[in-house]
Amino acid sequence: MPIGGSVARGGGHNASAPYHAFRPATIQIYFGLCGKSPFSPEMRVTLTPAGGMGILAIMPRYEPVPDDTDPWDRPPSEIDVSRPHAARMYDYYLGGKDHFEADRVTAEKALESWNAVRTGVRENRSFLGRAVRYLVEEAGIRQFLDIGTGLPSANNVHEVAQSVAPESRVVYVDNDPIVLAHAKALLTGTPEGRTAFIQADLRDPEKILSHPTTREVLDFDQPMALLLVAVLHFIPDADDPATVVRTLVDALPSGSYVVSSHVTPEHDPESVHGLEESYCTAGVPAQARPMEDFVQLVFEGLEIVDPGVEIVSDWRPDSTGPRPTAIEVSNYGGVARKP
Ligand SMILES: C[S@@+](CC[C@H](N)C(=O)[O-])C[C@H]1O[C@@H](n2cnc3c(N)ncnc32)[C@H](O)[C@@H]1O
Repeated sequence: MPIGGSVARGGGHNASAPYHAFRPATIQIYFGLCGKSPFSPEMRVTLTPAGGMGILAIMPRYEPVPDDTDPWDRPPSEIDVSRPHAARMYDYYLGGKDHFEADRVTAEKALESWNAVRTGVRENRSFLGRAVRYLVEEAGIRQFLDIGTGLPSANNVHEVAQSVAPESRVVYVDNDPIVLAHAKALLTGTPEGRTAFIQADLRDPEKILSHPTTREVLDFDQPMALLLVAVLHFIPDADDPATVVRTLVDALPSGSYVVSSHVTPEHDPESVHGLEESYCTAGVPAQARPMEDFVQLVFEGLEIVDPGVEIVSDWRPDSTGPRPTAIEVSNYGGVARKP
């Protein structure tokens, strides 16, 4: 799956970052396959093995400019509507209204390959709700770090958590400025609880952990839940997701939980790889992973909660009614406790 020219401008660090958020540094050569591409903060050059992909583009290298200004002071022009974004495509699948032409075109292309995407997305979203409810009702969790939040939708984490325990606190994290633009909807919560939003990249876990908002809202001496739901498939192996996850999990106190879901190619490889290709060609990094890789990436060393890692629709379903097939859903999910 070669990356097309559309990833060229500033596409390495943050596919959703606007051009003006970067400053030119050096010229370098860009190689890669999408799942293994150098989407890293430094945009390292990744040399392909002999016989691998050729040179795809020569582009300026851009380094991220630290941006700790108050989110509400940022200009709306930061939202680049010319390129597709994962959050807006997800919104399109869910029937929302916060998407643009580039998002719809790429989403429709993905739907051509995997026409059950919407089923997978809806099932993932309800898995998220059930997992949060489980954590609040049965595990006694009252604080949440939700990375890869997405656009506000039905059953946002704070709504589910605070409907059971109004004192629940949530820090939302997403790297897409469009989510920031809608963060107001995420920031309304109960007077007893707290909700906060920070714009940050999962590939920079230290920044998320040390951010003053994270430290102010969450108490790292008390158990919390780390949510990595439908986001790790946007972190290809070249970006070392294992170190990202380990850094975050290491920071959690004992008794904390991790919730995660992930697209898998296992049940319908042709369709899912077709979707990956549509995303990658449009400059959105995507890498589906089989169950074994997903479990190793997220849950190793943790106590996996019953019923284990399952197709998301089979994880503690609300009803005994008919459920979509694994082929349609193609997303695994699970919850685990840090001993
Ligand atoms: C498919 S949506 C999932 C939303 C929500 N977690 C859910 O499951 O309903 C993925 C979200 O992850 C965000 N995302 C993708 N890559 C990211 C990164 N490197 N850092 C932070 N957020 C990222 C996207 O902007 C998008 O909002």
